Amino acid sequence: MLIRIIYLSTAVGPQTTTMTNAILKKAQAWNKANGITGVLCQGQGVFLQALEGERSTVTQLYSRIYADQRHTNVELLHCESIAKRRYENWSMAHVSLSDIDPATKIKWPEFDPYSISGSLVMARIDDLLAKGSVIQGSNS
Ligand SMILES: Cc1cc2nc3c(=O)[nH]c(=O)nc-3n(C[C@H](O)[C@H](O)[C@H](O)COP(=O)(O)O)c2cc1C
Repeated sequence: MLIRIIYLSTAVGPQTTTMTNAILKKAQAWNKANGITGVLCQGQGVFLQALEGERSTVTQLYSRIYADQRHTNVELLHCESIAKRRYENWSMAHVSLSDIDPATKIKWPEFDPYSISGSLVMARIDDLLAKGSVIQGSNS
């Protein structure tokens, strides 16, 4: 059974390019080998990640990510069974929340991910993906 989860967390320390690249390198290799797809949005001190895959694999990965010392205040925003993947083209796409273009800012003027619902966050992620904000992470 396939599921999708979305969680939110706060970075411990600055979100440097080195840290982000280390996370993405590990994520893209492991996720590809284990049938996980998703998106990692990062910036402004937070991580927002959508993970899709077999329920057991996603659960196992989430518990590993939850325990990762590079972030804290991990909150599960959304969990659902899915018939089809939404992010099937990405083992882990990377979207920078620091590069949000002005049009998105107008549409989402007070984006506080800790205070909004999982489905709104997902809409926000899709918005960013549709605008071509993906930096890297194609599955191919
Ligand atoms: C924000 C964030 C997102 C992460 N996403 C993934 C991921 O999608 N896949 C993955 O394998 N590891 C991911 N990691 C790394 C894991 O937390 C963990 O470090 C890695 O799986 C290695 O675990 P191990 O040291 O227990 O082997 C992420 C870490 C952070 C901080």
